[in-house]
Amino acid sequence: MSFTVAIDGPAASGKGTISRAVAAQFGLGHLDTGLLYRAVGARMLDGMDPVEAAETLNPEEIDEDALRTPDVAQAASKVAAIAQVRAALVDVQRAFARRAGGAVLDGRDIGTVICPEAEVKLFVTASAEVRAERRWKELAAKGHRVAYEEVLADVRERDARDAGRSDAPMKRAEDAVLLDTSTLSIEEAVARACAAVEAAGGDRRG
Ligand code: DC
Repeated sequence: MSFTVAIDGPAASGKGTISRAVAAQFGLGHLDTGLLYRAVGARMLDGMDPVEAAETLNPEEIDEDALRTPDVAQAASKVAAIAQVRAALVDVQRAFARRAGGAVLDGRDIGTVICPEAEVKLFVTASAEVRAERRWKELAAKGHRVAYEEVLADVRERDARDAGRSDAPMKRAEDAVLLDTSTLSIEEAVARACAAVEAAGGDRRG
């Protein structure tokens, strides 16, 4: 029997951290679907046609570290607005969602389009300023020298594109639990997400 947790939200909302923690605490597999779009975006930056890049993508060969850059994030957001790119990535996401033992998928359209039947849906958000500050700290820790204002502009641009596209726009599913992490610690945000998963019938490990 499958058990799917769908976690959506904008960039740097904390959904990645929350998804990894939920997966670990409930013994579920985890798929960061943003990495699929980032991989397609990176291939486009290398000169490949984005639709071909999506149709020939091998998720096993994704190199996460190389994809966590601001340029790749913007490219990902651009290719994600192309309906044929999204269509090419549906099957791999749905197959993962049905894996035995259960799964957590995080992205922008998991609760609305990829897994509308998910047992648990969360929409994780935070103010643009808080998210930009988190992303800026992350980038600085990795040695990327970039101004906070630039990161904030980047976050806003990506939000507008991801929420404004016509195909599978980022939005909260009507039945998703809203989790605003602006003033929460990581521990508090994770605890609230885990409480929602438990309320929906998830079994904690151990
Ligand atoms: O979660 P992320 O920042 O790694 O995602 C990068 C981009 O990919 C994001 O700006 C929009 C796109 N994306 C999407 O359209 N749908 C998803 N399910 C996941 C990501």
